[in-house]
Amino acid sequence: MPEATAVEELATLESTAQAELATATDEAALRGWNTKYFGDRGAVKQALAAIGKVPKEQRAGYGLEANRVKVALETTYAALLEQAKEAAMRKGLSENPLDVTLPARPLPRGTLHPATQILRQIYAIFAELGFRVYRTREVETDENNFELLNMPPHHPARDMWDTFFTTTPGQVLRTHTSPGQIHVMRENAPHPVRVILPGMCYRNEAISTRSEIQFLQVEGLCIGEGVTMCDLKGVITAFARRMFGPERQIRIRSSYFPFTEPSIEVDIDWPADDPNRDRLTKGTGWLEILGAGMVHPTVLKNGGYDPEKVTGFAFGMGPQRMLMLQRAIDDIRLFWQNDQRFLKQF
Ligand code: PHE
Repeated sequence: MPEATAVEELATLESTAQAELATATDEAALRGWNTKYFGDRGAVKQALAAIGKVPKEQRAGYGLEANRVKVALETTYAALLEQAKEAAMRKGLSENPLDVTLPARPLPRGTLHPATQILRQIYAIFAELGFRVYRTREVETDENNFELLNMPPHHPARDMWDTFFTTTPGQVLRTHTSPGQIHVMRENAPHPVRVILPGMCYRNEAISTRSEIQFLQVEGLCIGEGVTMCDLKGVITAFARRMFGPERQIRIRSSYFPFTEPSIEVDIDWPADDPNRDRLTKGTGWLEILGAGMVHPTVLKNGGYDPEKVTGFAFGMGPQRMLMLQRAIDDIRLFWQNDQRFLKQF
C-alpha cells in the first residue's frame, strides 16, 4: 500500500477526533479532548505546524484542508461544550431544587446609638425654632474654656469643673460646651446668631452610676438686638413641650454661672400620672433640665459684640441625663460601654 498522503492523514485525524468527541459526554471529558487535539502539543496544532514540511505541490491543498478540519473540530467542540454545561446546570437544579419562596436569612441590622437618637431629636426641635447646629473642638484652650467665659485663673467658680489638663500648657479637655460660644461669637460678630452646640465634654470625676468622665452637652446661644429673658423662657418652654409632651410647665430658679447674668436653672414639671414621678423628681414633681442665663456683657465683649447694642441668652443641657430620665436608665456608665444587651433596647 502506498504511503498515505499528508491530506489523507488529515482526513484520518479528523474522523478519529470527531469519533472521540462524540464519546465525550461531560465537560471534563470534552476539555480533555480539547487539550489532546488543541493543546500546545495537540494533534491539530501539530498538523497545522506541519504545513511547511509538506511537499511543495501538495502544500496549498494541505493548508486549506488543515484549516477546514481545525474549524470543523472547533465548532463541534464549542457546541458540545455548551450542551454539556447546560445539561450539568439542569441536573444540578433538579437534584438540589432551589426554593425561591423561602424567606431570606435575616441580616442583623444595627440601630443608632441611643445618645445619637436623643441628639437628633434635640436637633430637630431646635431646627424648628431656627437654631443651626455648630460644632467646635473638644480640646480647648484654658482661655476659651474659662478665661473668656469670665473666669480668670484662680477664679473660685473654676471649682465647678474638675478639669483634665493636657501635657501642653494652657490646653484642656473642655469641661462644657460653653467655650463654643466664644468660637461662634468671634466668627459671627456683629451679626445675630442662633445656634446649638452639641458635643462631648470631659471632667475629672470619680466614675459612678451618676458621673462619667465623658458626657454629652448641648449648648444653646442666641444673640441679637433686644433678646430678653422672655425669649429664653419661650425657647425653653417650646423645647420642653416638644421633647417631653405638650402639657409641660417650666419653673425657673435663680442660679450662678460666671458667664451669664442673671443665671437660672430650669425645671419642668413631670406628669403626675407617671408612676416614676416621685423617683425622677425626688418627690418635688419638678425635674431640672438645664442651666442658662443672659450672656454676661464681658463674654459678649470677649466674643466681639457690643453689649450696649446686643443681648443674648445661653443654655446648657445634658442630653444623656434626659434620656436616662425618659427611659429609666439608672447607670450613666452604660452609655459608652458598647454592651449590646443595653444598646439593642433602643
Ligand atoms: N456650661 C454650664 C455647665 O456646664 C451650663 C450653662 C451653659 C449655663 C450656658 C449657662 C449658660 O454647667
